[in-house]
Amino acid sequence: MKKLTLLFAVIVLAACAGQSAPAPAPIYDEKAVPAGPAGDMIRYGRELIVNTRAHMRGYVLANFDCAACHIAGGTKPKGGSFVGIYGQFPQWNARAKRTIALHDRLAECFLYSMNGKPPAYNSREMIALVAYIAYLSRGTQVGATPDPSVKLTKFAPPQPASAQRGSALYAQKCAACHGATGAGSAAFPPLWGPKSFNGGAGMHRLATMAAFVRYNMPENAPGSLTPQEAYDVSAFILRHARPKFEGTRPVGFPVFPAKYF
Ligand code: HEC
Ligand code: HEC
Repeated sequence: MKKLTLLFAVIVLAACAGQSAPAPAPIYDEKAVPAGPAGDMIRYGRELIVNTRAHMRGYVLANFDCAACHIAGGTKPKGGSFVGIYGQFPQWNARAKRTIALHDRLAECFLYSMNGKPPAYNSREMIALVAYIAYLSRGTQVGATPDPSVKLTKFAPPQPASAQRGSALYAQKCAACHGATGAGSAAFPPLWGPKSFNGGAGMHRLATMAAFVRYNMPENAPGSLTPQEAYDVSAFILRHARPKFEGTRPVGFPVFPAKYF
């Protein structure tokens, strides 16, 4: 009987081993990006997300890169992931009250989150950013519903947020990196003040910041805050002054020469 059980166990194990699927390929592997000029654009797009300030001086006033909110080059689930989003554009935009292309969505983050200005749509930078996001979205279907395990999912606060409780929490769990004055440093992004995102940014909405903080912060212990704590600390951060979004300022794009197309 014992022998039979053992034999059975061996068969089951063998069957499982045979079935085990190969580990999925990483969503971004530098070595797997196609060679040649098309691949160069994809690599440059990622470089722009990670080191935005170094390449796009003049387009960025905030003292951080896109990757401050789009963690790991926009590949971290619930960390500002770009994976699959290419297929979700064009999409209706409630703020703009029109259907927008991916280029327009990128322009939005330049204007609000980076408190800067968008590069021209025919610039090498804009083309590279779109190429990179399209590459991260390869294999996904056009019009697919956003994957809730990837998208930043907002949630309601258990109790109303308290900036007062958030203040103590900030000193204890955030100030070591982001600074007591919220100004950050060369290595850590500012959370408020003149070098942070402006008042029109998505991160300036309490529910958005609470969700980002809950899943991604503190950076050395993500997931350690309760939903209430994520709301409290975000309410404290959002109480501080930051740049105002100047909506009437003109955004000039260069005229395209016909031979561009
Ligand atoms: C201060 C934080 C912050 C920074 C910096 C930032 N973004 Fe964003 N971005 C957000 C938030 C928040 C969203 C909305 C995410 C959501 O709703 O899931 C977003 C959304 C996006 C989206 C649409 C994603 C989707 O799911 O449809 C794109 C594309 C994007 N950002 C590109 C950029 C680029 C490019 C930069 C740099 C030039 C940048 N962002 C910098 C916070 C930021
Ligand atoms: C160990 C250092 C560290 C700690 C502690 C930390 N952060 Fe961060 N934070 C970072 C880094 C680094 C980033 C940029 C994204 C990344 O690389 O993960 C970031 C990004 C952010 C962002 C988005 C970018 C911006 O500037 O708006 C917010 C919001 C944020 N942190 C809030 C918090 C809050 C709230 C706490 C405390 C609960 C906290 N962080 C604790 C290192 C830290």
